[in-house]
Amino acid sequence: MLVDNHGRTINYLRLAVTDKCNLRCFYCMPEDGLQWLSREALMTYEEMLHICTMLVGMGIEKIRITGGEPFARKDTMQLLTALSKLNGLRELTLTTNGVLTAPLVPELKKIGIRSVNLSLDTLDRQRFLTITRRDELDKVMDTLQQLLHHGIEVKLNAVVMEGKNIEDIIPLVALTKELPVSVRFIEEMPFNGDGNQHSGINWNHVRILQTIQEVYPGIQKIPDALYSTSHNYQVPGHNGSVGIIAAYTRSFCGTCNRIRITPEGMLKMCLYDNGVFNIKDMARKGASNDMLAEAVTAAIQHRAVDGWEADRNRPEKINIHESMATIGG
Ligand code: GTP
Ligand code: 5AD
Ligand code: SF4
Repeated sequence: MLVDNHGRTINYLRLAVTDKCNLRCFYCMPEDGLQWLSREALMTYEEMLHICTMLVGMGIEKIRITGGEPFARKDTMQLLTALSKLNGLRELTLTTNGVLTAPLVPELKKIGIRSVNLSLDTLDRQRFLTITRRDELDKVMDTLQQLLHHGIEVKLNAVVMEGKNIEDIIPLVALTKELPVSVRFIEEMPFNGDGNQHSGINWNHVRILQTIQEVYPGIQKIPDALYSTSHNYQVPGHNGSVGIIAAYTRSFCGTCNRIRITPEGMLKMCLYDNGVFNIKDMARKGASNDMLAEAVTAAIQHRAVDGWEADRNRPEKINIHESMATIGG
């Protein structure tokens, strides 16, 4: 079992398999995309499987595959299939933008994927185009239908942005009347790859909740799952639920059970840190499993208490060129 220096059990790995994406969400990356990592810099399928197998042996019980867009990489389904067979891994899941996902849903079901997080910031085609700079809403909605049809639990992620999708907050809550989904509204974080300093947030978790309460005054707090990033609510009589993720306010760090690996193999102890060491490079230089395990255990003994401390400890503060696609969400 992995326990950090603050007594928190670490049993969850978020593995970003690529920085590439077929959308250009403006809160994540510039219109021209990023300077994509070279093939050499990316972890190979074999390296990812090796590192995951080792970490599961050390106490990781849940792996979430992220990106970029996981399915922008061709061998992601192969990786998921191999990971689904790992003894000791209790939950395998992924976060996707849903553009390429619909045809893959039957296979996801077959390998035992029980839940998927799907990005959906708006239900309006024009606003989807403005936010993601691509006209792909239909494919995302198709993915949503396919997931529900196959009985896969769905969490919808909507980043809340002034001037972009505020008019979608209530329609997205309304979606939970019929659909058994969890719609999560997310505070925007400063990782959009544009190189500009972030000037704080207009829409924090309090304002998001107040906006919902104005239309749904009866909305009730429901219990949050262990380690949940979202504070969860339900409108009485609705099939689905509503969550609010204080990703910028960072109010859930006290129970943080997660570590991250970026597409190039950088091990991160927090979304807001710079990374501790590159585990892929260490393995490529010939480090044994014991040496890798020792380095991971040592890093876990030096975790910041929360995302604010992690941020303060960064040598160059927030790296303003960073994108969620290079961090892996
Ligand atoms: P589960 O708890 O496994 O369902 O994952 P999640 O809801 O955290 O994952 P998802 O990939 O859907 O991310 C939803 C939002 O939460 C994204 O904006 C993430 O960047 C954000 N998020 C995920 N993990 C963290 C974290 O450790 N810290 C912060 N501040 N935000 C996070
Ligand atoms: N702030 C908050 N959430 C973000 N995501 C991507 N970029 C940001 C950002 N700057 C979300 C996406 C996706 C999840 C992995 O991270 O909407 O659902
Ligand atoms: Fe792609 Fe997700 Fe970034 Fe949007 S937020 S550009 S879908 S990686």
